[in-house]
Amino acid sequence: MADNQCTCTVRGSIMQHIVRPGETLSSHAHESRVGGKGANQAVAIARAGGQTRFFGSIGRDGVWIRDKVAGYGIDVGGLIVVEEPTGRAIIQVDEKGENSIILFPGANFSELHEERFTKHGEGWFPETTHLLLQNEIPLRSTLYALQNAKNATLDWLIVNESEAQELYQAAAGSRAKPLSSMTTKELLFHLSAEPAFEGTNVVCTLGAEGVLAFDAPSALYQPAAKLVHGVRDTTGAGDSGLMEFGPRAHVGREITEDGVARILKTCVHAAGMCVEKRGTIDSIPSRAEVEERML
Ligand code: ADP
Ligand code: NA
Repeated sequence: MADNQCTCTVRGSIMQHIVRPGETLSSHAHESRVGGKGANQAVAIARAGGQTRFFGSIGRDGVWIRDKVAGYGIDVGGLIVVEEPTGRAIIQVDEKGENSIILFPGANFSELHEERFTKHGEGWFPETTHLLLQNEIPLRSTLYALQNAKNATLDWLIVNESEAQELYQAAAGSRAKPLSSMTTKELLFHLSAEPAFEGTNVVCTLGAEGVLAFDAPSALYQPAAKLVHGVRDTTGAGDSGLMEFGPRAHVGREITEDGVARILKTCVHAAGMCVEKRGTIDSIPSRAEVEERML
């Protein structure tokens, strides 16, 4: 599929990141940046050459964030201003580049968003070929987006290991097998066998270990990219590595194993380039930069 035929709609979170590199108690520096999984993924898709529209909510304090996202060529017509303050994430980044995050959902949990777009009637996603959801907005809003997307089926589920564990426990309930006795591969096997994920391709990111794509009964492993500059900030690595999924991984199961392997390889290189730099959206490489790194 040519990139110019792809229109990705991202319905998700957008927030202000307050980043504190250094020690927990006395940090070396403090910076504010644009973030939120929704905004990160929208930028990643735009950087990969896909057409992107973003649906979300900000407060009046977030107009600079909207301008910044629009600067990446993203259509922000679906980004509305609500009474609540813009969402915030306070992120601590240690010397090894690992992070811990405190989230304040703010405007991302505003009820107003669906109300406003429901009033406009049908055609919430008229030309959308891909819908990206990240679960940083109310579940009700996620379901609304799925119901309003044409042919809504969940083709790709992209999670990290702890998200895979949480989802498996939520889906299996009392049937859930103990997590402590499972390898990641077994966890993904059980997760994709859950009725809720029938026909869904599960991709699990493994941090410095790379990524595992699961399509029963086989699993495809792609090791992480060799870093050129070392780890600086892993925040949003998963979102950044997603950049190839929007424009390329299009109809779920019809994609060949070779195709998936190629996409995963590009993804780990994009994610690797993101962890080498501070920040999140500012460190997402363009498609050309990733291709050059892979030569
Ligand atoms: P998330 O950021 O969503 O929690 P992960 O931490 O699993 O996701 O990282 C996503 C991807 O980023 C990994 O699949 C890997 O390709 C890359 N990555 C993350 N940490 C490192 C690292 N320390 N070295 C190299 N690549 C990394
Ligand atoms: Na980064």
